[in-house]
Amino acid sequence: MTDINELESWDRGNFFHPSTHLADFARGDAPNRVVTGGKGVFINDMKGNNLLDAFAGLYCVNVGYGQQKVIDAISKQANELAYYHAYVGHGTEASITLSKMILDRAPDHMSKVYYGLSGSDANETNVKVVWYYNNVLGRPQKKKIISRWRGYHGSGLMSGSLTGLHLFHKQFDLPLSQVIHTEAPYYYGREDGSLSEEQFSAQCAAELEKLIEREGADTIAAFIGEPALGTGGLIPPPKGYWEAIQAVLNKHDILLIADEVVTGFGRLGSMFGSTHYGLKPDIITIAKGLTSAYAPLSGSIISDKVWKVLEQGTDEFGVFGHGWTYSAHPIGAAAGVANLQLVDELNLVGNAAETGAYFKQAMKDAIGDHANVGDVRGEGLLCAVEFVEDKAERRRFENVGTTGGKLAAALLKRGVIARAMPQGDILGFAPPLCITREECDQVVSALQGAVEEVLG
Ligand SMILES: Cc1ncc(COP(=O)(O)O)c(C=O)c1O
Repeated sequence: MTDINELESWDRGNFFHPSTHLADFARGDAPNRVVTGGKGVFINDMKGNNLLDAFAGLYCVNVGYGQQKVIDAISKQANELAYYHAYVGHGTEASITLSKMILDRAPDHMSKVYYGLSGSDANETNVKVVWYYNNVLGRPQKKKIISRWRGYHGSGLMSGSLTGLHLFHKQFDLPLSQVIHTEAPYYYGREDGSLSEEQFSAQCAAELEKLIEREGADTIAAFIGEPALGTGGLIPPPKGYWEAIQAVLNKHDILLIADEVVTGFGRLGSMFGSTHYGLKPDIITIAKGLTSAYAPLSGSIISDKVWKVLEQGTDEFGVFGHGWTYSAHPIGAAAGVANLQLVDELNLVGNAAETGAYFKQAMKDAIGDHANVGDVRGEGLLCAVEFVEDKAERRRFENVGTTGGKLAAALLKRGVIARAMPQGDILGFAPPLCITREECDQVVSALQGAVEEVLG
């Protein structure tokens, strides 16, 4: 095996890491970690650390690390057929079976699955599908997409534009002009403290309608949103939010894309966030939990309504000119089939609901009364703690982000990985869905220690 020091020097000398301070990393001022293994909710690294990964990688390793059934399925598929494409009607037993399994789990009005490799490329596909849909329907001007501030939809040109976080726009000339952003359903961060959740939801819907009227409904094709906001702060929607938003979208004939890259396949304690919160999307984006990241695979689940227009389009214009070499990659598809079977076998959706509720309550009991803990929130196994300078006024710390970073570092010292979310002092927790109550207790006790160390 290569010596750890040599690996570190190769790493800093050659590897362009995503979402990293490049100069600090190259200089050696930012840490590197060489991850070597994982089992259940734990990962280990080359220095011998064993860490409880309370963010499941990037909230994607839903079945946990080292699940033999998924590993065997990948290995079997690689032995039989590592690759064949999915163009012009080609498939494999795995990709065809997986499509059936996804549709069996998705809301009833969904019709077909298109496969990609990442959440970002799936959202690129979704926008192309929406544009194509409106061209076929003879409304070429109906093309703009509305997204929310604090939404996260990926890092491509279009998907990065849909993302509503400044970090992902800054110096990249984004967002593209076809994308407009509306208010985030961030109830804790509301300006007017006197509003109830329902009133705040009505305000978000009214803002959306104003935006639509300003731009012209005949120019707006779709609205994209995560059922519960993820990277923007792990924020479940306030009461009545989706009902109010969908009423506005329906009134103006605007499609709804539910980005379920994080929430799909159990994270919230339901198979899909759409069913959890009563959304009726026209397209659903899936990735992460589809294979628990054992192999890259994403998908766009298309509704009956949109599918009919796509068929009409190919009758009029010929072949649907969109595809990736690796669409429905057999190894990803085999991982997906085994992964979804395991999600059922281990009752991970039920565990996300039950253990998630336990975890959130345990965090509230342990640190909820602390003077700097503004909000402990979550749904299923998607939880966050938001830290503020002044609890009564919900006033943030001056250098936003610094406290969150320090807390994540203090947790790491205690053997727990949590994520300091961008745009706030927010610690995010989204562990593998197989986490036990005892492991949650371990996270909570580390959190209590970290809060005492950093905030007293
Ligand atoms: C809701 C959501 N959509 C899309 C993406 C982008 O997925 P990927 O990183 O696989 O491109 C993410 C990634 O975190 C996500 O959270």
